[in-house]
Amino acid sequence: LTRSVAYITLPSILVAGPAGAGKTALATRLERQGPKPADTYTSQKINVVELAVGEDAAASQYTDDLDSSGAVAKKFLLVDTPGHGKLRNATALARLDPASTKAHKLQGVVYMVDSAALGEEAGSDSDAGLAGAAAYLYDLLLLLQKRMGAGNSSKAPHTIPLLIAANKADLFTALPAPLVKAQLEAELSRIRTTRSKGLLDSGVGVDDVDAGAAGAEDDDWLGEYGSKSFKFDQMREFDIDVDVIAGNVVGSDGPGVGKWWTWIAQQI
Ligand code: GTP
Ligand code: MG
Repeated sequence: LTRSVAYITLPSILVAGPAGAGKTALATRLERQGPKPADTYTSQKINVVELAVGEDAAASQYTDDLDSSGAVAKKFLLVDTPGHGKLRNATALARLDPASTKAHKLQGVVYMVDSAALGEEAGSDSDAGLAGAAAYLYDLLLLLQKRMGAGNSSKAPHTIPLLIAANKADLFTALPAPLVKAQLEAELSRIRTTRSKGLLDSGVGVDDVDAGAAGAEDDDWLGEYGSKSFKFDQMREFDIDVDVIAGNVVGSDGPGVGKWWTWIAQQI
């Protein structure tokens, strides 16, 4: 009986997002249960941190000392991934493969963005800028969407909600959460239009599209098929809830990490 304990897989939360968004800073701050993250450097590998939430998720705080309070703690793994464009596919996005989400008991995804970089002038070639942040998010959302449609078994896959963590709210140049949401939706709409045109321009005339090809095109469309602009609400059709919450890992000005922690605790 005791032997089986070693084989229990802890639930996990994936942390993804462009380079420099603050993913590793968040992981180290939660691990230390203190006000300050460790100094970070560009991640090249997945970094897994074991954390625990109290039994009452809504009341749980990341600073709770669960050992001394004798509370019933639920352990889980926070999986911090590298944001670099060349490392995403093999790390963060690979974890969204249906077989992988099942094996890792993936319960939620935190997509972290730099809310100050999102507000910078277009044309800044930083990965954390609006174009870069939205392009990565598009790939991630499409994988989550396809996952819900995948599999021919009658049993639907468990849902994986998404939290967009609008980080660096301590900086005065940071966009507030509603604006982060609106900017990302607008950019995701643009990307969707561009990619659907790409399909049409690839030499397949509209009249040539047979049922099979139309089906394939349908599969690559993010959100409500044929809708003019993309809204995160459209992901509900695929049973995917998206929340956008502002916070900051560094600095004492701002909302901190409390609301993100509550969101995470509720998924465990
Ligand atoms: P990659 O590993 O390259 O994908 O980046 P990352 O998302 O792990 O970023 P990391 O945690 O290394 O943070 C990048 C920089 O942002 C560091 O200098 C952090 O100190 C800083 N940073 C993180 N969170 C905040 C925040 O809330 N406010 C401010 N002002 N800076 C932050
Ligand atoms: Mg990192």
